[in-house]
Amino acid sequence: MNSKRLAFLVGISTLIGIGAIFYIFGERPIAKPIVLADPPTAEPAAKSKNKRVEPEPLEFRNTALSVGYVGDAKCAECHLAETESYRKHPMGRSMTTVEKLKPAATKEPFTVDGYRYSVRTEGPRVIHVEEKLDVTGKVVATKEEDVSLVVGSGTRGHAFLVDRKGSQFQSPVSWYSSVGKYDLAPGYAGKNLHFNRQIHQGCLHCHADRVDEKPDGALAINGLTIGCERCHGPGELHAKEQKAVGGFDPTIVNPVKLTPTRRDQVCYQCHLQLDAREEIEGKKVVDYRPGGDLYEFVRRSEIPLSDPYLQMKSLGHSHQMEESKCFVNSDGKMGCVTCHNPHEWPTKFEDRIALHNKKCISCHDAGNECSLPTPTRLLKSPTDNCVSCHMPTRQTTDIGHTALTDHRIPRKAEQAVKAAPKATP
Ligand code: HEC
Ligand code: HEC
Ligand code: HEC
Ligand code: HEC
Ligand code: HEC
Ligand code: HEC
Ligand code: HEC
Repeated sequence: MNSKRLAFLVGISTLIGIGAIFYIFGERPIAKPIVLADPPTAEPAAKSKNKRVEPEPLEFRNTALSVGYVGDAKCAECHLAETESYRKHPMGRSMTTVEKLKPAATKEPFTVDGYRYSVRTEGPRVIHVEEKLDVTGKVVATKEEDVSLVVGSGTRGHAFLVDRKGSQFQSPVSWYSSVGKYDLAPGYAGKNLHFNRQIHQGCLHCHADRVDEKPDGALAINGLTIGCERCHGPGELHAKEQKAVGGFDPTIVNPVKLTPTRRDQVCYQCHLQLDAREEIEGKKVVDYRPGGDLYEFVRRSEIPLSDPYLQMKSLGHSHQMEESKCFVNSDGKMGCVTCHNPHEWPTKFEDRIALHNKKCISCHDAGNECSLPTPTRLLKSPTDNCVSCHMPTRQTTDIGHTALTDHRIPRKAEQAVKAAPKATP
């Protein structure tokens, strides 16, 4: 740690205290940014921590606002293999309709704070039911709503939306995959918003392809899953003329060909955690295009929590990765796409281990390898699963917005979780 960073940490220690209390006891409503007033690290951490020199960026012609979007169907005409591989990834299945998902009815209703919830199906209809109970448990009021859209691939869970004349409202009932049941939506415990939480463009900007919001709040959703052009940029130019020269095609962005910061920003447009981002006044993040500079649209605030447990609980994938020695010392070589190719989604667990090991070994080969002797390692992990020891998983039944897998890549797993009190609900 350099002295500048140390001074910064000491300087804001009071704020950390307040932040820590918020994180442990506070509600974690979506999109409530914690902003430290004019933080000295308003500079992206990638720059301030990592003194790497960014190479000259390649000029992609489809970052210009004048280039139009064409939609996934157009890309599929020429890129069937990439389309199919991407549809396997959770991002390629990020939203759907209840007709397609066919969610089940509740076996047993659940009751929270005087309200009883159940899900009923009637032909193609899926109806969420909220009953208000009096102290004796008698139903005093009933509300029924048809849900139509489903947010989330179901890897962790589903949120459900009710359509009222094109405006979308979240249902208080969500599905939690890890426990296989319905329960109150995340953040609703103690702060039940019933069917009144309106969903704005900002929410679906991360979960759908492109979403326009009309002045009356109605949403026009173009593409129910995160589309090709959200990572590759608009395709109008490229669909007309493909012009690969010297190994790169300036008509379409390939994230791996961007400079390290811009490459990571493609993912950060959605994976920069909600509490650490704030839209810059007069700018709309929907105008960001892959290859451009995300920080022209979004200001990020650092949440340098000194407590490793709080770091794990509160920091999203982006901040955690940037804390890792691998990131800090690899001179821009490491980014999200080093380990995650959205076109590669092995479903079998063994294949996932093998894939991740391959990525670790791409940097940690002979001379740079694990210092725990191989026999000791194999005794503990017969598949020599690097991730199981160096990226341990935090157990949770929530479907919230923080990392589950430790992206700080600690040397020893215990370092990360030792300080951990029992998980708070
Ligand atoms: C008419 C056929 C066609 C359509 C439509 C098309 N592509 Fe391509 N694409 C190609 C060809 C051919 C190449 C390889 C040669 C080249 O890039 O010049 C390519 C290359 C690419 C590359 C690799 C570029 C690189 O530098 O590594 C990406 C990424 C890509 N396309 C994405 C897309 C996306 C996203 C869409 C939809 C918006 C799309 N393509 C639509 C034909 C097409
Ligand atoms: C448009 C927003 C958006 C962009 C851009 C985006 N992501 Fe995602 N990502 C999501 C959402 C939303 C999910 C959750 C999908 C689900 O399960 O419903 C997700 C899930 C993931 C997962 C978790 C898969 C799992 O369930 O284990 C990985 C890994 C991932 N993204 C990596 C990336 C990488 C790498 C990039 C950049 C190349 C990227 N994402 C760009 C929104 C985005
Ligand atoms: C800044 C981008 C962003 C916003 C805004 C956002 N999400 Fe997410 N959401 C994600 C990402 C990324 C994931 C993947 C898991 C992770 O990173 O923890 C995710 C995961 C989820 C999941 C779990 C999906 C699964 O099965 O794995 C649900 C459900 C969900 N979000 C609902 C919502 C709802 C509802 C809203 C709006 C009220 C919302 N999100 C706003 C980025 C966002
Ligand atoms: C979440 C971000 C993301 C989305 C969404 C996405 N891609 Fe990609 N795509 C990538 C990344 C990252 C690479 C580079 C992978 C690598 O080489 O490691 C890539 C590579 C490609 C390539 C070049 C393949 C090659 O052989 O070099 C094509 C073509 C492509 N994508 C097409 C598509 C199409 C078509 C879709 C939509 C169906 C799509 N992508 C959706 C991130 C994305
Ligand atoms: C892009 C290259 C790259 C990748 C990929 C990579 N690392 Fe690293 N890693 C590094 C560098 C560079 C260092 C720092 C080495 C040093 O300082 O001597 C490092 C350090 C480490 C350390 C030591 C951390 C400490 O606190 O001392 C561990 C453990 C580690 N990596 C594990 C992994 C694992 C496990 C994976 C795969 C999940 C991985 N790395 C992927 C480049 C990488
Ligand atoms: C060194 C490798 C590595 C890097 C770099 C990396 N991840 Fe991961 N990530 C993993 C592993 C391993 C898992 C858990 C196993 C799996 O899902 O296959 C994971 C899981 C995830 C998940 C699923 C939720 C969770 O926490 O388990 C998301 C979302 C995700 N990563 C996003 C990102 C984003 C965004 C970046 C860049 C900021 C990133 N990752 C960088 C290795 C990496
Ligand atoms: C059984 C658990 C376990 C497995 C599996 C494991 N490691 Fe380690 N690794 C450790 C421990 C413990 C240390 C710390 C040793 C020490 O401090 O003496 C370590 C240290 C390291 C270091 C730091 C090396 C140094 O010289 O500072 C790197 C890099 C690393 N491991 C990478 C990997 C990679 C890559 C894999 C997968 C091929 C892997 N590890 C598999 C437990 C494991």
